[in-house]
Amino acid sequence: MIWRPPDERRRPAILAAMTADSIIVAVDGPAAAGKGTLARSLAAALDLAYLDTGSIYRAVGAKVLDAGGDPADEPAAAAVAEGLVPADLERDDLRGEAVGAAASQVSALPLVRCALLAFQRDFAYNPPQGKQGAVLDGRDIGTVVCPEACAKLFVTASAEERARRRHEELLARGEKSIYARVLQDMRTRDARDAGRETAPLRPATDAYRLDTSRMDADEAFRAALEIVRARCL
Ligand code: C5P
Repeated sequence: MIWRPPDERRRPAILAAMTADSIIVAVDGPAAAGKGTLARSLAAALDLAYLDTGSIYRAVGAKVLDAGGDPADEPAAAAVAEGLVPADLERDDLRGEAVGAAASQVSALPLVRCALLAFQRDFAYNPPQGKQGAVLDGRDIGTVVCPEACAKLFVTASAEERARRRHEELLARGEKSIYARVLQDMRTRDARDAGRETAPLRPATDAYRLDTSRMDADEAFRAALEIVRARCL
C-alpha cells in the first residue's frame, strides 16, 4: 500500500460532511496583522464557528517546553501533536513570547503539520454546535487546510506596524517589552513562516489581500465582511 499522510486517507469522509451551503472562510497572514480579531468578528457576525489555528501550534510548543524538550525535535513534537486534546488549547499561557517562538519552530516540522491537519479539517467541515460553517485563521488555511473555502482573505500589515501592535499588546498585559526586539522577533518569525518547505506562509492564488496597516479593526471588519458576503452568501 502506498503511504499517504492521514489527512489524505480521511479526506473523502471529511468532505462528505460538507453540504452545498457550508460556508468556510480562510483568514491567513503573518503574526499580528489583525487576523484573529477579524476572524472572530466575522464568525460572530455570520454565526459561524471559529478556530484560531495558531493556538494549536502554540499548545504543541507549550507542551514540548513543559516536558523540557527541544521544539526542533521532530519525533518528540509530533508525538505531542498526536496526543493533543481540546483542553490544551484553553491554557492561559499560550500567548507568551517563549511559547510563540516554540510554536514557530514546531510549526515548521512536517510531521507536526501532518498530525494537526485532520483536526483542523474536521473542525471546518463538521463545525461544532451545528453551525453552518467556520472561520479559521492561520498561515495555510486557504492553501492547504481548506483550499475549498468560499472566501480567502490574506491579511497583512507592515512589519513595523505589526511589531508596534504586538508591543502595545504586551505592555497592556503588564509584560515587559522592547519595541526593537519585538520587531526583530517578528522579522525572524516572518522569515521562518514564509521560508519553510511545508505549508509556507503565502496567499492562495484566489485570496483577497487586505492590508490593514492604515485601518482600524472596524474598517478591516467592514471590508472583510463585504468580501465574504460577495463570495459566500
Ligand atoms: O498565529 P499565531 O502567532 O498564534 O501562531 C503561532 C505560530 O504558529 C506562528 O508563528 C506560525 O509559525 C504557526 N502557525 C502555522 N500555521 C498555522 C497557524 C500558526 O504555522 N495555520
